[in-house]
Amino acid sequence: MSPALPTGGPTRGRAIDGKAAAAALREKVAEAAREFSRKALRKPGLHVVLVGEDPASSVYVGAKEKALNAAGMTGAVHRLPTDTSEGDLLGLVRKLNSDPAVDGILVQLPLPSHLDEAKVLDTIDPAKDVDGFHVVNAGKLAVGKDALVPCTPAGCIRLLKAERGDLSGLHAVVIGRSNIVGKPMAQLLLAENATVTIAHSRTRNLPELAKTADILVAAVGRPEMVKGDWVKEGATVIDVGINRLPPAEEGGKGKLVGDVAYDEAAKHAAAITPVPGGVGPMTIAMLLANTLAAAHAREGFEAPSL
Ligand code: GUN
Repeated sequence: MSPALPTGGPTRGRAIDGKAAAAALREKVAEAAREFSRKALRKPGLHVVLVGEDPASSVYVGAKEKALNAAGMTGAVHRLPTDTSEGDLLGLVRKLNSDPAVDGILVQLPLPSHLDEAKVLDTIDPAKDVDGFHVVNAGKLAVGKDALVPCTPAGCIRLLKAERGDLSGLHAVVIGRSNIVGKPMAQLLLAENATVTIAHSRTRNLPELAKTADILVAAVGRPEMVKGDWVKEGATVIDVGINRLPPAEEGGKGKLVGDVAYDEAAKHAAAITPVPGGVGPMTIAMLLANTLAAAHAREGFEAPSL
């Protein structure tokens, strides 16, 4: 059972419990990681590279470190100073590429502005690219071949399938066209036979378009941009945004909100992911699942079913 919506009034939408779905997936990953370790005589290995001291990135990386240990995996976080040179960063990535104990490599984004993000991502061995950001994995996803798939959209699809079952023929509107979420999300929905529209900052009549969606995915990074009257009655709403509002008081921490005005949208949606506790926890669970998949592929083992 999903929890009731945390709002008063005549709501009809259910909150999609991403925390519970992520916990269930992490349990399965941990069991499969134990089985992998028995067969391979080593643990799956995930290495995370963090350059600089961006506070949000530090929090995300800390959560990834905790999760990988809890899942029975091994690995490390490589914390590098902000002024790390491109040569040094590429050197570390190449060292991890050639280390047989490393199954997954994740370079936390954004990188400091003097570093060429595309060049760094494309230096990662595609077989270890557990973010699915390498052009080889993006290309494989686009042509329907087995690939390591970006974690956040993969987590969204898992939630959607649990919620709606078969997605075929449903109209999905994805707001946002980033390489990290919007584009791979659209590809994954297409692979599920949904009818997909990608909307973005130049899209005309966005509220009317959004209102035609059976599945509405918001991944724009603008707090509460999607209003209640953009949501079709009975739609499933997936909110990928994590935005911190300015603090109400000096020294306080601003409230976390998504890209969707939750209370309004919940009056129209059949189900909606809250922020926090919706998509966010799924991203880390999918990262562990991708690491496990990469480890199996590298050992020539059959992929575990999760
Ligand atoms: N920064 C924000 N989200 C992500 C992600 O999914 N992967 C990486 N590497 N960096 C991010």
